[in-house]
Amino acid sequence: MSIIFNEESKEFHLFNNNISYIIKILRNNQLGQLYFGKKIHQRDSYDYLLENAYRPMSAYVYEREYGFSLEHIKQEYPSYGTTDFKYPAYEILQKNGSRITNFEYVSHKIYSGKPKLKGLPATYIEDSSEADTLEITLFDSVINAELVLIYTIFNNESVIARSCRFINKGKENLELTNAMSMCLDLPDCNYEWIQLSGAWAREREVKHRKLEQGIQAVSSARGNSSHNHNPFIALKRPNADEFQGEALGFSLVYSGNFLAQVEVDTYDVSRVLMGINPFGFTWHLGEGEEFQTPEAVMVYSDKGMNGVSQTYHKLYRTRLARGEWRDKVRPILINNWEATYFDFTEDILVDIAKTAKEDGIELFVLDDGWFGTRCSDTSGLGDWYANINRLPNGISGLSKKIEGLGMKFGLWFELEMVNKDSDLYRNHPEWVIKTPNRSVSHGRNQYVLDFSNPEVVDYIYQMVDKILTESNISYIKWDMNRSITECYSAFLPAHRQGEVFHRYILGVYDLYERLINKHPYILFESCASGGGRFDAGMMYYAPQCWTSDDSDAVERIKIQYGTSYAYPISSMGAHVSITPNHQLFRNTPLETRGNVAYFGAFGYELDLTKLSEEEHEIIKKQVEFVKEYRELIQKGTFFRLQSPFENNISAWMIVSEDKKEAIVAYFKVLNDVNCPLRRMKLHGLDENLVYSIKGTNNAHYGSELMNLGLITTDSSSGQVVEEGERCADYWSKIYVLKAEI
Ligand code: DGJ
Repeated sequence: MSIIFNEESKEFHLFNNNISYIIKILRNNQLGQLYFGKKIHQRDSYDYLLENAYRPMSAYVYEREYGFSLEHIKQEYPSYGTTDFKYPAYEILQKNGSRITNFEYVSHKIYSGKPKLKGLPATYIEDSSEADTLEITLFDSVINAELVLIYTIFNNESVIARSCRFINKGKENLELTNAMSMCLDLPDCNYEWIQLSGAWAREREVKHRKLEQGIQAVSSARGNSSHNHNPFIALKRPNADEFQGEALGFSLVYSGNFLAQVEVDTYDVSRVLMGINPFGFTWHLGEGEEFQTPEAVMVYSDKGMNGVSQTYHKLYRTRLARGEWRDKVRPILINNWEATYFDFTEDILVDIAKTAKEDGIELFVLDDGWFGTRCSDTSGLGDWYANINRLPNGISGLSKKIEGLGMKFGLWFELEMVNKDSDLYRNHPEWVIKTPNRSVSHGRNQYVLDFSNPEVVDYIYQMVDKILTESNISYIKWDMNRSITECYSAFLPAHRQGEVFHRYILGVYDLYERLINKHPYILFESCASGGGRFDAGMMYYAPQCWTSDDSDAVERIKIQYGTSYAYPISSMGAHVSITPNHQLFRNTPLETRGNVAYFGAFGYELDLTKLSEEEHEIIKKQVEFVKEYRELIQKGTFFRLQSPFENNISAWMIVSEDKKEAIVAYFKVLNDVNCPLRRMKLHGLDENLVYSIKGTNNAHYGSELMNLGLITTDSSSGQVVEEGERCADYWSKIYVLKAEI
């Protein structure tokens, strides 16, 4: 058992071989935070960490005593206004208008295993020996409310997963206006803050800055986790880099409005908060009702940011993603969106599929435009039955044809949305999210269905289930193309309107869960105009996600690099598309487009019937490459080597678990001339093994490759190379390393 409770000192110590987390029951019976970091020894008490100091202008809990001030004691799950003045972890509005609370320790449970969170995605275990859990129950006797803080420590990972539950045990209604999933008071602020921010088509750019006194935060109030900010932040020591030094990661397993914030007070204490965005949120807790927060996952690394990322990659790939497709190699797909957009017939689709099959591609995905009267983005959303004018044999007929070619068939849906020009809207205009007596805004001519209403979710479920049951569908791309405005549910009473955003996401999760349970063989890929909902919440249902609508290879280097801070390579949908690229109008070599897309759930998104023989030959080689190495790419350990945000040349690599194979990807955006001889230091290899580099006669010890570096010099430094090897702009190279036995 890796959780100890010391009755004397009233301290909990959660630990494994790598990390320690220490909590103390304070003398006021609230919880204090003593430590989170690299493993330290168990001792009877870490009392000396408590700050009991007199400071003018602070407020003190005990009469005639200067010392015990919550402003200066690091806390576990603090409230505002009883001597602490920082932004709190929660707030409860009571009938008398007060927001003051006092949750005191009542009891705790320590057990092997990890609980499920009802209706919410969360990391899980397969065997109770994988993790231990501490649940601490606190009670506020004035409002008769219970608070349960839940901590799970994974025994072999530097991970603590946290969430909380509020239960109204009294008769009076309570309004929960803030309920963070976690709080962590760090004793200093000597960190660099890292966030992943961007916008449509340039998602998850890595931004960093020094942590400063005051509040720094990222959030979403759009209904989805968003293209703009991601529910992930990291704090790293200024001297830490990708490979060494201390870094902490914070990730929320949630897909809706979130807040990730660090408040540094003027004593340099850094309070990290992460959870549902309190802005616009209120949860009504009637008698006996409870509220469960989403899960936040904290990671500690003393091996730099790659250490943080590798921990998330492994955890999310193996203990967040679920189902048949978690461990299976992913099929190479062809998606028709950038090939045809809305302009297709059954014959056009079948021709693309036939050509794809000849190239060795395994799955044909029919994107938007197959249903209702959908021939543009103005109509059809909500009518999930085939457009017979376009597809005379329906989806069932088309899926049979595709399967007849020896391929699997996949289909696009956007289940949360409706166009006004649709049967669904004509029959149920009241099912749209809109505020009474106010105009209702659109995004891409579509409106958001009220998924906080179970009847709506059920209706959509029935429609989709029918089509999945009638046809051979192996894959679903679940899209979501707008944010929520005029948020209000006709289904809910006035005092529950602050719940709509969260209930909406719970509805989405519920629909996913029902479809997965009924059709467990389907591979789900989530999508929200590309990467607008690329978060850990979605990964529980869909093991892969369309990373970005930007399919330009050069831009994708940055997008995939940034995404890898928190999410595994297996989760990033990555396609080779046509040039000039449809978003950037840039021409990049087909080889580079492949070399970037290899590092993700690989596919194509272009009209294969329009390519030359020569291009098909390249594609066949790419397909062969993916089939040979996809297991390694999907499951290997990923290292970022050099950042595309800071360099013209960037690189990353993947090493197999047994360290016998590795693939290095090297990207040079703009060519240079008469440039230096270059080497790139590799990581994660076995220093004693000799690795041969495929396609060359070169072989090197792991120690050489990691300490001297791999020679990456190319024709731009005067090397004599074969015709096809001469580098130009947007050049890239893959190095395959195999240990000689
Ligand atoms: C947005 C997605 O990101 C695209 O890949 C495509 O599926 C379109 N929607 C279809 O409308």
